[in-house]
Amino acid sequence: MILRTRRLDLRELTDDDLPALRAILQDGDTMTAYEGAFDEQMVRSWLSRMRERYRDDGFGLWAVVLRESGQMIGQCGLTRQHILDEDVIEVGYLFDRAHWRRGYATEAAAGCRDHAFTALGADRVWAQVRDTNIASMNVAIRLGMTVRGRFIKHYRGVDMPHLAFAIDRPAE
Ligand SMILES: CC(C)(COP(=O)(O)OP(=O)(O)OC[C@H]1O[C@@H](n2cnc3c(N)ncnc32)[C@H](O)[C@@H]1OP(=O)(O)O)[C@@H](O)C(=O)NCCC(=O)NCCS
Repeated sequence: MILRTRRLDLRELTDDDLPALRAILQDGDTMTAYEGAFDEQMVRSWLSRMRERYRDDGFGLWAVVLRESGQMIGQCGLTRQHILDEDVIEVGYLFDRAHWRRGYATEAAAGCRDHAFTALGADRVWAQVRDTNIASMNVAIRLGMTVRGRFIKHYRGVDMPHLAFAIDRPAE
């Protein structure tokens, strides 16, 4: 167990999460900001990349489990990223469409933001958001983040304008 919030438990992803991961990563609507659904091989490399991150960094995107049912409903966590020419820590979130708009992303991401400050000693936590992704921007705003810059991300052969949101470690 990595962390607990009011309704959610966050833990590392395992092979047992593959069906729930497919429900997220192979859904065209969920993956709009990522230029569409992943195929099976992309799902498997996504999971092995997370395992590499756990091993190398000690953190990555984690499985988000609804405590009352034990169901895996999303992914949220922290990853190392290169944003606006800096090596930074980012909070990321992707949830199963069946569970959107109940505050789960904000709740999980707030837990991860605080974990970055307290357990990892980060001075700033970032979120990179495609400029068309209103839901994600709303989560970043709910986390207390503000826009620090803009950049173009090249992904799956597409130039994607992004906003770089961030929040600074609160004063003690
Ligand atoms: C972004 C995402 C994680 C949000 O998950 P969620 O659990 O629905 O978010 P929350 O319920 O915590 O909502 C956070 C805020 O965003 C708003 N919001 C959620 N979905 C929205 C949408 N589609 N359009 C506009 N606002 C939206 C909520 O109303 C809430 O604001 P409020 O507190 O003012 O009401 C989810 O839409 C998702 O998985 N999207 C696909 C993956 C993705 O794009 N991830 C982000 C990559 S940067």
